[in-house]
Amino acid sequence: MSKILVTGGTGYIGSHTVVELHNAGYEVIIVDDLSNSKIEILDQLEKITGKRFDFEKIDLQDATAVENFAKANKDISGIIHFAAFKAVGESVEQPLKYYKNNFFSLINLLTSFNKKINFVFSSSCTVYGQPDTLPVTESAPVKPAESPYGNTKQVAEEILLETASTTDGLKVIALRYFNPVGAHETALIGELPIGVPANLVPFITQSAIGKRGPITVYGNDYPTPDGSAIRDYIHVVDLAKAHVAAIKRLDTNTDTDSYEVFNIGTGKGSSVLEIIAAFENSTGVKLNYTVGKRRGGDIVEIYGDVSKSKEELNWKTELDLNEMLRSAWAWEEYIGKNPF
Ligand code: NAD
Ligand code: WQD
Repeated sequence: MSKILVTGGTGYIGSHTVVELHNAGYEVIIVDDLSNSKIEILDQLEKITGKRFDFEKIDLQDATAVENFAKANKDISGIIHFAAFKAVGESVEQPLKYYKNNFFSLINLLTSFNKKINFVFSSSCTVYGQPDTLPVTESAPVKPAESPYGNTKQVAEEILLETASTTDGLKVIALRYFNPVGAHETALIGELPIGVPANLVPFITQSAIGKRGPITVYGNDYPTPDGSAIRDYIHVVDLAKAHVAAIKRLDTNTDTDSYEVFNIGTGKGSSVLEIIAAFENSTGVKLNYTVGKRRGGDIVEIYGDVSKSKEELNWKTELDLNEMLRSAWAWEEYIGKNPF
């Protein structure tokens, strides 16, 4: 059984990926510093899978700690690297916090696990900016980053490309996620935003449960059919399964210094107003919202061409918008009653 290190494994996407790796028969070890997640997630993962996963609390910015971890875990065959800071607005206020964490963590891992490793990296559709053509393919140009956060993803991809091509045995897949939403079907794990959520779906569920006031729709004067901005929302469980598919591809890839990029979305765009309507339909809960100004830095419209992922990763999405919003709401209700 292959042993996979999941960095950031107690976080939102990481925790769902741990479940899917386990379901697919992989052994998992989690490293997280709990800077944006809770240790209780290990109990929740045990409730879902019946398995207590190995866990080490390490800040990946600490080169010595990562080196010692690598020496003690020589049987790791693959790394899925989620650990990073991800708040776009905060990255504009505190760029060094983002450059330090997102680069040092990556570089420390690549330095310590410098041979024969399969590496899956969490990239983002943010690297495309506002694409010239939709749906956007992996060969579309990377646009100048709108934020230090976005810049960390662009430069991390370059670091990985250059390191893979000069390190025999290091095989890399960068997954460019579109907008992950929703929660596990058990409602035992989900997104745990700290403070006021900047992202749409967590704001919707917190508003619906009464934790926040009405939702503000950031702009209804965009050149889209209903005037609100369009994104490619993807269920976090489908996204988690894409990581298993990526690990499987790396396991069988005989090119020993490969670097590949894949879009991970549904291929379908939904507007903010469509998301609000879909939430009401799938949950029966009415939302209060007002229309406000556009949010600075937002693009008009993006959705991905996911044919490369379908063909080469042998992966496709299975869960629709209703299930994304139903599960996000079930999780909000669960965590409201069972806070940790
Ligand atoms: P998250 O914050 O829920 O998970 C990240 C985890 O990494 C957290 O548990 C945090 O405690 C941990 N972490 C951060 N810095 C660390 C460090 N130095 N050492 C050890 N652990 C550390 O975020 P998420 O939504 O699960 O995102 C996972 C990855 O996917 C990130 O790299 C993010 O940039 C990327 N991504 C996320 C989205 C999104 O919308 N959620 C979209 C595209 C890409
Ligand atoms: C979605 C839409 C908002 C909140 C961000 C990052 C991106 C990626 C995913 C990591 C937009 C609108 C939102 C609200 C609203 N993360 N909105 N009212 O901006 O597409 O992407 O998360 O890589 O890098 O930038 O996601 O969920 O913030 O917004 O109207 O209260 O909802 O304007 O059109 P976004 P989001």
